[in-house]
Amino acid sequence: NHADIGLIGLGVMGHNLALNLAEHGFVVAAYDQNPTAASQAAEAATARGAGSKGTVAAARTLQALVDQLAAPRKILLMVNAGAPVDAVLDGLLPLLQPGDIVIDGGNSRFTDTERRSAALAARGLHFVGSGISGGEEGARKGPALMPGGSPEAWAAIRPLFEAIAARAHGEPCVAHIGPGGAGHYVKMVHNGIEYADMQLICEAYALLATAGLDNDAMAAVFARWNDGPLQSYLIEITARILAQRDPETGAHVVDLILDKAGQKGTGQWTLVDAAERAVTVSAMGAAVDARVLSSLKASRLAASTQLAGPDGRIAATDREAWIAQVHDALMAAKIVAYAQGFDLMATAGRERGWGLDLAAIARLWRGGCIIRAQFLNRIAEAQSGPAPVANLMLAPWFRDTLAQVHTAWREVLAAAMRAGVPVPAMSAALAYHDSWRSPRLSANLLQAQRDFFGAHTYERVDKPAGQHFHTHWPEVQG
Ligand code: 6PG
Repeated sequence: NHADIGLIGLGVMGHNLALNLAEHGFVVAAYDQNPTAASQAAEAATARGAGSKGTVAAARTLQALVDQLAAPRKILLMVNAGAPVDAVLDGLLPLLQPGDIVIDGGNSRFTDTERRSAALAARGLHFVGSGISGGEEGARKGPALMPGGSPEAWAAIRPLFEAIAARAHGEPCVAHIGPGGAGHYVKMVHNGIEYADMQLICEAYALLATAGLDNDAMAAVFARWNDGPLQSYLIEITARILAQRDPETGAHVVDLILDKAGQKGTGQWTLVDAAERAVTVSAMGAAVDARVLSSLKASRLAASTQLAGPDGRIAATDREAWIAQVHDALMAAKIVAYAQGFDLMATAGRERGWGLDLAAIARLWRGGCIIRAQFLNRIAEAQSGPAPVANLMLAPWFRDTLAQVHTAWREVLAAAMRAGVPVPAMSAALAYHDSWRSPRLSANLLQAQRDFFGAHTYERVDKPAGQHFHTHWPEVQG
């Protein structure tokens, strides 16, 4: 029992994490139901690991994996979220002893993690639900890690997690998020923000393309934006994607890709959870809906000849001015998307008593993960202030930036709507912003309607809050 950690599930993510751990000097006992996957990871580690003391040792059975580990054992599961996690736990748990730590590094739903934490705690075992972000490359070279679970489990896994995590400003991109399902919850919100960020960039791309910029021109625009306040991994890869040619045809790859988006569910989970907590995440909602609508390709093709409207072309007479306005619209909407995501985490953290450190979360997202961005420094600053703001939009840097860009944001959306270019996430974000800045909304009429048909009562502007009134409305005939 000389191994530092067991790893079960050697798909791309598991394989790369095993190599990352070995590269940092850890001995990994690796198991996969397909024995070839385990030996391939072992061979890959040996092939490139000469000179380092870390290795990957293939285990042929779960028992063999457990036997390589000293108590308390640390075992990382990298299997598909859902039933496969429960199936592995069924086989593994009888082989473990109290005090052992099982880590689930998949994109599990946080409610499943809470259930599994309770089940393992009843057997004296620790369960760590850990968000892991950064895709294949992140797993190999340094992901962002969002572990939940007990402080004891965190203390035991901390050296390994800090060693393999990405680094931003010299700090490892990992923090103990909170108990139970907190880690997977925060990863879920990361993905909701990821969806919004991606959709907003896609809308900016549409706004530039319909105004006549070709792919190479757009690649240059995104590359330029990546040197400014929008600097982020997603902007950087967008520049690279737009420049990429297909070797076979010479065409831009992006033009060859069918416009039907896939999704594996984490964005939808974020919406369901936010709806249940009555938190508005409309930019994420628009992003999920945009993926859904994109997937209805055949129906859209049919409807495109039936629904009347403008031709989807934007006449931008001053190209540079238009690019600058789209930049500002993207910046503004991005602020809203993050404001909504942080609002959701603040609310859930409060309701669940997780004690989430939002500044630490913003800091750990600065490296390794898909939404890594310079902008997160500003969020970390805003969240570390003496008095928390009611909404990120109200923190000084964000408030001032919104003041500078909101006119361009409106111009861009007005032009898009006149031209018939769908901009669902940018416009949902603007509606959210404008609702926040409205001292009076139309909900007075809504309350009257509720009182009319259901005697639901209302409060009055001219009476103290908390008193409820009802009007005897006239009856509707027929
Ligand atoms: C990450 C990503 C990743 C996620 C994919 C797929 O942080 O590395 O969030 O965990 O699984 O991005 O998401 P969709 O298939 O739903 O787009």
